[in-house]
Amino acid sequence: MSIELLTQKKGPTISKYIYGQFSEHLGHGIYGSLYVGKDSKIPNVNGMRSDVVNALKKIHVPVLRWPGGLFADTYHWRDGIGPKDTRKKIVNTNWGDVTEDNSFGTHEYFELLHQLGADAYINANIGSGTVQEMAEWVEYMTMAGESPMSKLRQKNGRQDPWKLKFFGIGNESWGGGGHMRPEYYSDVYRQYQTFLPQYDKDHPIYKVACGPNEDDYHWTDTVMKLAGQYLDGISLHYYTLPTGQWGQHKGDATDFPEDQWTSTMTRAKHMDELITKHSTIMDHYDPDHKVDLIVDEWGTWYNVTKGTNPGFLQQQNTIRDAMVAAITLNIFHQHADRVHMANIAQMVNVLQAMILTKGDQMIKTPTYYVFDMYQKHMDAELVEGVGDLPKNVTYTASQKNDQLTISLANYDLTEEKTIDFTAANSYSKIDSAIILTADRMDAHNTFEEPDVVHETTFKGASLENGKLQLRVPSKSVVTVTLK
Ligand code: AHR
Repeated sequence: MSIELLTQKKGPTISKYIYGQFSEHLGHGIYGSLYVGKDSKIPNVNGMRSDVVNALKKIHVPVLRWPGGLFADTYHWRDGIGPKDTRKKIVNTNWGDVTEDNSFGTHEYFELLHQLGADAYINANIGSGTVQEMAEWVEYMTMAGESPMSKLRQKNGRQDPWKLKFFGIGNESWGGGGHMRPEYYSDVYRQYQTFLPQYDKDHPIYKVACGPNEDDYHWTDTVMKLAGQYLDGISLHYYTLPTGQWGQHKGDATDFPEDQWTSTMTRAKHMDELITKHSTIMDHYDPDHKVDLIVDEWGTWYNVTKGTNPGFLQQQNTIRDAMVAAITLNIFHQHADRVHMANIAQMVNVLQAMILTKGDQMIKTPTYYVFDMYQKHMDAELVEGVGDLPKNVTYTASQKNDQLTISLANYDLTEEKTIDFTAANSYSKIDSAIILTADRMDAHNTFEEPDVVHETTFKGASLENGKLQLRVPSKSVVTVTLK
């Protein structure tokens, strides 16, 4: 099987924001993992856990969505500013009814972004908040001159405003964010966005409207029709469940039957149909593609790890998750002309995480390694390919800085696949070749054995007379860069 890469044809740019992450006040998604507090015995910088931050810095997280998720629609930002001992302790009603002490708030979030080198994506509370509360939060974060909120920010130790890049108005407003109908939500969105202050005229805040759940095409159609002129992006949420059933029968993260490997791949690939169909609706109202699709929640969702709090959504992460990550990123790349940002759920300890922590221990998951291996596609130009691919294979080719990077997932459970690539541009050297693979379909890293699944040098790539041949084992993701 061979693919001809059209390297001389201009392709769309793959936005780096496709590699975005999401951290919610949910289980151990923030507390104990990203944020341990300055007095913790776990090494930290200004309360941010150093081992976790250092690992995340290596994958160059471009943007971090916060504070939810469902939590966002119960979050009152004033609870999370000022001296820690005066911060209000609340109950996290969405996630296990645990006490939320608000020790991680706006200042801590921007400190984390600063350490990661990531941009901000904040989700406002329109479910139980007010327009004024939202407007004052934005004033607090972004007002440079004198104002009541900028003075409050300064009193709390931050002189300069922060840069607020992305702002979500509503999260799952069709469900836990208010059970609104799309007509009603569109009006609420229009109202809130009217009072979203834009103090930094050179860097206007990018507005994201709550989009559909999975295949709710009516939602997209209605919001685009009624509010499309007031937004920069519309979100989409889609999770990959092995069985397709919510509740107790989603399927387990490990020790799953073979047919759940197959169904998981099929469901991951469904993202392509969802993006295609939602985009087609958007085309009708926005033929010039001024509005982006923002997939701000995606990833695998399994039954929680046995013995853990069901409200904490803790799950293991196997080579199967690596396949889902690679398949999904490849789909996003193919839709680079519409998908501007995506945020995998969630960055640490929750759902399809990059990192798992236990006490002072930390492990990187197979998904982390895919994000690492795919980095060269960030802000690169997508290269179109023509030809035939073997069954159960998906790939991306992109160019940047005179390099051609090909990433490919062979999610076949048993068969090695051979694929040839040719390119009009001449590349003479394999600069790097990396593989992530495993013998077992549920191979994963544990705190006892943290290195079962990890990147290693890929020996199955050869370049002769301009033809790149890849021999890719089953259950593998590879990335090869040519110069
Ligand atoms: O990511 C976990 C939850 O999934 C989010 O809080 C919510 O938006 C979605 O239902």
